[in-house]
Amino acid sequence: MAAAPRLGVDYYPEQWPRDRWELDARLMADAGLTVVRIAEFAWSRLEPRPGVFELAWLDEVIGILASAGLEVILGTPTAAPPAWLIEQHPEILPVRADGRVQKFGHRRHYCPNQPAMLAASDRIVRALAERFGADERVSAWQIDNELGGRCYCDTCQTAFQHWLADRYESLPVLNEVWGTVFWSQEYTAWDQIPLPEDAPAPTSSAFGFGRNAPNPGLALDFRRFSSDSLIRFLERQARVLRESCDARQRVTHNLMGFHFSEIDYHALGAEVDVVAWSNYPVLDTSRRWTNPALSADAMRGLKQAPIWVLEQQVGPLGWQLVRSPRMGEFRLLSWQAIAHGAELLCYFRWRTARYGTEQHWHGILDANARVGRKYDELRALAAELDSVRDVLDGARPSADVALLHDYDSRFALQVQPTNPALPYEETVHGHYEALRRLGLGVDVLGLAADLSRYRLVVAPSLYVMDESAAAVLAAYVRGGGVLVLAPRAGMKDRCNAVPERPLPAWLDELVGLEVTDFMSVAPEDGARIGGALDGRLHGWYEQVEPTTATMLASYVDGPFAGMPAITERAAGEGTAVYVAGAADAATLGALYALLAARGGLQVLELPPDVEAVPLVREDCDLLVLLNHSDEERVVQLDAGERRVHVGNGGDGNALPIEPLGVVLIERAASQRTARSAVADANA
Ligand code: GLA
Ligand code: ZN
Repeated sequence: MAAAPRLGVDYYPEQWPRDRWELDARLMADAGLTVVRIAEFAWSRLEPRPGVFELAWLDEVIGILASAGLEVILGTPTAAPPAWLIEQHPEILPVRADGRVQKFGHRRHYCPNQPAMLAASDRIVRALAERFGADERVSAWQIDNELGGRCYCDTCQTAFQHWLADRYESLPVLNEVWGTVFWSQEYTAWDQIPLPEDAPAPTSSAFGFGRNAPNPGLALDFRRFSSDSLIRFLERQARVLRESCDARQRVTHNLMGFHFSEIDYHALGAEVDVVAWSNYPVLDTSRRWTNPALSADAMRGLKQAPIWVLEQQVGPLGWQLVRSPRMGEFRLLSWQAIAHGAELLCYFRWRTARYGTEQHWHGILDANARVGRKYDELRALAAELDSVRDVLDGARPSADVALLHDYDSRFALQVQPTNPALPYEETVHGHYEALRRLGLGVDVLGLAADLSRYRLVVAPSLYVMDESAAAVLAAYVRGGGVLVLAPRAGMKDRCNAVPERPLPAWLDELVGLEVTDFMSVAPEDGARIGGALDGRLHGWYEQVEPTTATMLASYVDGPFAGMPAITERAAGEGTAVYVAGAADAATLGALYALLAARGGLQVLELPPDVEAVPLVREDCDLLVLLNHSDEERVVQLDAGERRVHVGNGGDGNALPIEPLGVVLIERAASQRTARSAVADANA
């Protein structure tokens, strides 16, 4: 259960004069903030010379914040190694794929496998942990900042070879599973194994050859290794912290949401006490609300627990170019993050920077210290949240649907996307959007999660498969679940080789069909489908031959006209559905409306750009309605009793929401079954 949400801020006291700190702390507290994250890039001030620590100023800031009633999250500063460290150990600088060494002068300029970096990281983290690990004013630690990047230095190459030796144990095994006989790539010594050239396959409408495309097994393993390297770097800091810190101080890291794809976040999530992330919705406004929603759900799914947003957008942002959020959008985006499971939002940042790369990444206060609209909006939001504290306390997002997210499949599809209509992120996003457009609650989970309590499990592009993962999915279906497998499931094994089995490999029996042919064409080309639902598959679409499956929809035109395009097969108590291609939004919308109606899942008829997030508390259900559009929208709800906590109660079934508005409704838990019945009746 999530605690009632709290608000905080990211503060860089080292960037401002000492005599400003008290006033800042007072202003923060007056706005209703209770948490402050500090120190995440302050290495050069914390250890100005090798092994010489100056922690008194940090202690003083913590004291000032604590006196104002603010609790502190301390960052470890390793994302910004100081100049003296690079001068001493230039080998720390990471090497890019093209062999160029990344210079000092930005941040994240370190290789996570360099012994000198690891030693320096241990030393500064230990110094901080020993000083503040028992400090009651400090409630948590954020390790580093937004880990990411792949390094191509010689140390990483050797580390990769060792990583492979651990994984495969013998070279003949590695040669076999990677199929290195292809193009005479067989290795006779571990140290012959290269790092793959970085050759992103063409993903736009250009079909063709990826330059220097590497062996797919090598490329997949290098992605795993690079992800592991960063996770091991984090885990090492976590160990140093846990040696000296009270267990009360939670260890976290700020991840980058669903759209960041260099780290297996399921594995990273296991190393932290709480998952936190950075949320900047206006960085990409192409999908107004589904991007941040999907990210939040994916982050919450890592531990299936409440999350923190350690960087929540507060104002205009950009480094070279700047984009403003819409007037009033600040509140809406904050509510969205909370509805999706955040129990803490720290706004980035307190005051806009006067110097440095982020002069245009705007904070709550302006660079010249002006206290204006953003401060007022923040204070108003804090007061509003306070007024519904009891309503939100113990509430969490509820979901009947699980959407599966698999990093092996994602990494393998990065290596060979196969069709511009099939990028992994797009496919997952398409299914997610279709589900959320119906007002369904969605959890985004890895394959290791317990699926048994979900009524519907959607698994887009499970491209990499194996016997045990397939067995988990089969058990879910046999136990009564409805599983949707969308295209290109079971095309590769864990080593990124094509299995010598009927496709979709390991899943063919479950879905009751075999994929025997396909068309890969321009993403705008495709085939119409019709039957229990009408729609269209495009870019990539398959010919499937049912063994035991029956048709939900068949191709209406194109080379596979008359053959099945969406199938279902009853297995045990449940059903396995197969979608034989990349489906557009309308097709997925129709499919999920059909499956929701059959399964008695409550759906809502939502106007465009209105998001509905169902929450559950022990004693009641809650619904958050978010109008992401610039116009008033009216949502039709069933007639059951409701209490409106935020927003306008509306009239009868019609609930109007103002532009960028928020509505929070409470309904008795007893209505849960009643509402399912309404959904059935309307279906
Ligand atoms: C990231 C980082 C922050 C800051 C913002 C804005 O999310 O974590 O330190 O740089 O971007 O650029
Ligand atoms: Zn390296």
